[in-house]
Amino acid sequence: MFTAIQIQNENSAPVFNKTLVESDLPNGDVLIKTDYTTVNYKDSLAIVKKIPVIRNFPMIPGIDLSGTVISSKTNKVNKGQKVLVCGWGLGESRWGGFSELVRVQNEWITSVPQNFSTKDVMIIGTAGFTAMLAVKKMLNHGTEPRSGKVLVTGASGGLGSLAVMILKKLKFEVVAATTKPNNIDYLKFIGAKEVILVQELEEPKKLLDKQKWAAVIDTLGSRTLAIACAATKIDGAVISCGNVQGMDLHTSVAPFILRGISLYGVNSVYRSTSNRKQIWNLLSDTLSCSELLQISSEFSFDKTILIAENVFKGETFGRSIIKLN
Ligand SMILES: NC(=O)c1ccc[n+]([C@@H]2O[C@H](COP(=O)([O-])OP(=O)(O)OC[C@H]3O[C@@H](n4cnc5c(N)ncnc54)[C@H](OP(=O)(O)O)[C@@H]3O)[C@@H](O)[C@H]2O)c1
Repeated sequence: MFTAIQIQNENSAPVFNKTLVESDLPNGDVLIKTDYTTVNYKDSLAIVKKIPVIRNFPMIPGIDLSGTVISSKTNKVNKGQKVLVCGWGLGESRWGGFSELVRVQNEWITSVPQNFSTKDVMIIGTAGFTAMLAVKKMLNHGTEPRSGKVLVTGASGGLGSLAVMILKKLKFEVVAATTKPNNIDYLKFIGAKEVILVQELEEPKKLLDKQKWAAVIDTLGSRTLAIACAATKIDGAVISCGNVQGMDLHTSVAPFILRGISLYGVNSVYRSTSNRKQIWNLLSDTLSCSELLQISSEFSFDKTILIAENVFKGETFGRSIIKLN
């Protein structure tokens, strides 16, 4: 038997089910013993609100996991291999990582890069994977360190912290936007040159604001994204990654037609296997294990629901990872 956090239906609270057996798991060709999982913002929504993140019940949440293959029906993945799985609908439409055992399709598996452990890859998780996708979009757009400052919003969160770290490594001047004055020292420590408060960002009096940002990596959406677009420099890039403040976006076409800015979106869930390998290689070339420890807090499996509630309330910072076996 094994233990997992299970949610029976949209009205029931998440519970630790200790009576699951291997045959309860969904179909797939690879069985993984989970070492670590993590609590992303989406996981906190799944635990607290259930819908719209969870699309089938009963569900085991957890969009990320890392661990060791204990059996494989394909020669593409080997028993004993250290692997990670992020996205692919885990914890949404398919049983996910808040579980001691997980069964998946081999195509969803990425090998843990050589210089990382199963713990390191969960400190990165979907948050860091998405941060690297966003940075890559920005680089492909043509943004260089000499283009000017890069704004990161929701900066002390998982995606935000990893974006700050990656950009600093690539020699960009990072301005971190946070809601919490208490996090200013943390953000400077991980690489922000300057820290501003989200609540002090003012809506521009005209359609356009003073040009401030060569690029923006935004995790908040809504009001903050609109303000950021209006202050992006000519030909700048805005990368929309998240919606912590809301799904809405009330802006004008002025930043697009008068300044030629580009608004990009990032979706980390359904990336191809080869694209994932490329992004994980970039992450392992850019970040070291010791740096990753600076942004993470580790908890035992029994604390997962509590941590998810805290993430939902915005009471955590950096990455919260969960150790299972
Ligand atoms: N597009 C994709 O594929 C993808 C992948 C991963 C994540 N995401 C999205 O990216 C966002 C961030 O995810 P995450 O896992 O990094 O979340 P997280 O760790 O919970 O970080 C979110 C951060 O947002 C800030 N925040 C919280 N409540 C806020 C509010 N009411 N107003 C303004 N700021 C607030 C906080 O930062 P401060 O304390 O610094 O203010 C918080 O740490 C989420 O919307 C998530 O769904 C999207």
